[in-house]
Amino acid sequence: MKSASAPDYILGIVGAGAMGQGIAQVAAAGGITAILFDLSAEAAGTAKQAVSSRFHRLVEKGKMSGADAQMAISRVQIAGSLEAFAHCDAVVEAIVEKIDVKRAVFSDLEKVVSAGCILASNTSSIPISSIAQACTHKNRVAGLHFFNPVPLMRLVEVIRAAETSEETIATLTALGKRMTRTPVTVTDSPGFLVNMGGRAYTTEALRIAHEQVASPSQIDAIMRDCHGFKMGPFELLDLTGIDVNLPVSTIVYEGYLHDPRFKTAPNHWAMFHAGRLGRKTNAGWYDYEGGKPVGVPSPDHEAASAEPGPVALAAGDDALSAFCNELGVDIIQDDGTCPILAAPVGLDATGTALDTESDPRRLVCVDLIGDRTRRITLMTAPGADAATRDRVAATFAATGRKVTAIRDSPGFVGQRIAAMVANLGCYMAEIGLASPQDIDTAMRLGLNYPRGPLELVEHIGTSNCATILEALQGITGEDRYRPTQWLSRREALNLPIHTPS
Ligand code: NAI
Repeated sequence: MKSASAPDYILGIVGAGAMGQGIAQVAAAGGITAILFDLSAEAAGTAKQAVSSRFHRLVEKGKMSGADAQMAISRVQIAGSLEAFAHCDAVVEAIVEKIDVKRAVFSDLEKVVSAGCILASNTSSIPISSIAQACTHKNRVAGLHFFNPVPLMRLVEVIRAAETSEETIATLTALGKRMTRTPVTVTDSPGFLVNMGGRAYTTEALRIAHEQVASPSQIDAIMRDCHGFKMGPFELLDLTGIDVNLPVSTIVYEGYLHDPRFKTAPNHWAMFHAGRLGRKTNAGWYDYEGGKPVGVPSPDHEAASAEPGPVALAAGDDALSAFCNELGVDIIQDDGTCPILAAPVGLDATGTALDTESDPRRLVCVDLIGDRTRRITLMTAPGADAATRDRVAATFAATGRKVTAIRDSPGFVGQRIAAMVANLGCYMAEIGLASPQDIDTAMRLGLNYPRGPLELVEHIGTSNCATILEALQGITGEDRYRPTQWLSRREALNLPIHTPS
């Protein structure tokens, strides 16, 4: 197998669509000769033109010299048939997502390439081992999963199938680095790493909206402002398209044998059936005009007529009393009419009222997990007094913060989604999909998460994370929320979450 650092390294690319073009561009930029083949000669020609104009644009932006761009462009070649791949050191397949077609291409490639040539697939959903079935030498078959748009997305998953050799993995990892990507090694599994790990963020948000706890715009605002996500889950669903993210959810749910952790919600299917696919149809969770969302309901609680005022605390809660002091909110003894504040972790408002023997009509729960500098989430039990809640909203709004008021739910919105993302990260580590560090890297780079899921456990606190999940499981009675053993053991032993097994 040729070293990926060889100056004369040649990469074959089958399929010159969106992904093939991007792979050719980053290969050529890394000094690798990229030979593109597509069934459609027109597609291959268009790809070469597209790659050339992208290099020219980099020169215009001052990001590349004219001479380097010319060199890179000259490294992108078009082949008229697969026979041109005879001297390739590796071939990446990026064709239509159909197993039979992919198998046929791999079988044809094996007849053409040299014994040391790696055969990789860029598939997002087909098991690599199942593509490798078409090959005699399965040890050189692996996944090399890039993300769209390739030049902007630094992550590449190097996927180890049942019979992939260590040499193949090491060479593809080096090749990925030469293409200026950040490679992570992943075990062949449904959705691989990023598409599997990304399930929690959106499916839990869908679930929360389905239960009428909060609206999509409220959930999006909470996840952006309090947990640092660049996009809310519904904005993300609309961007990727319901016709893309629903099948991925289904593949992962089926692939993990209906583990309830991966279950999506009925509203996901309802949007799909209604043809509200997101930005591409100008209608999804939000409506769009000219590519911009329009008519988005405000996530901010309107309590204009309410006056700020003092509050009582449901129980001796140091964190809540420190928070109120920091914001200059007056704390008084319960006078029988004032709002009563509590800051539950995991528990819903109903359970908090019972636990603290507080009047549920005047109890207002505040979510203290996450960033509270921009937005504060308030939650009340059924039958709560709206005027009392509005007084609390006005009190916090007077400190310059936005307020979102939601219905009763264990773990509010933010705790619930964060704990599910974190727990799924722990599950990926538990089943050895990748190393804990690679899991964090992949989720940060592949999905733009502010921190990896295991880093998120540490951020919200291992014990908080376990408490939120246990409360969710206890209150809903659903195994969906069961904490992973990875999390429970490290919590019980007070160990850092990245501690290997
Ligand atoms: P695309 O539809 O843009 O391009 C596919 C190209 O393959 C077309 O130009 C088509 O003419 C060509 N093709 C089809 N059958 C062929 C064959 N037998 N031999 C040679 N060429 C053939 O598709 P895209 O989006 O580039 O996806 C390609 C692969 O990459 C798929 O496996 C997909 O799952 C995967 N992928 C796609 C991502 C995306 O966001 N588009 C992200 C990551 C992976």
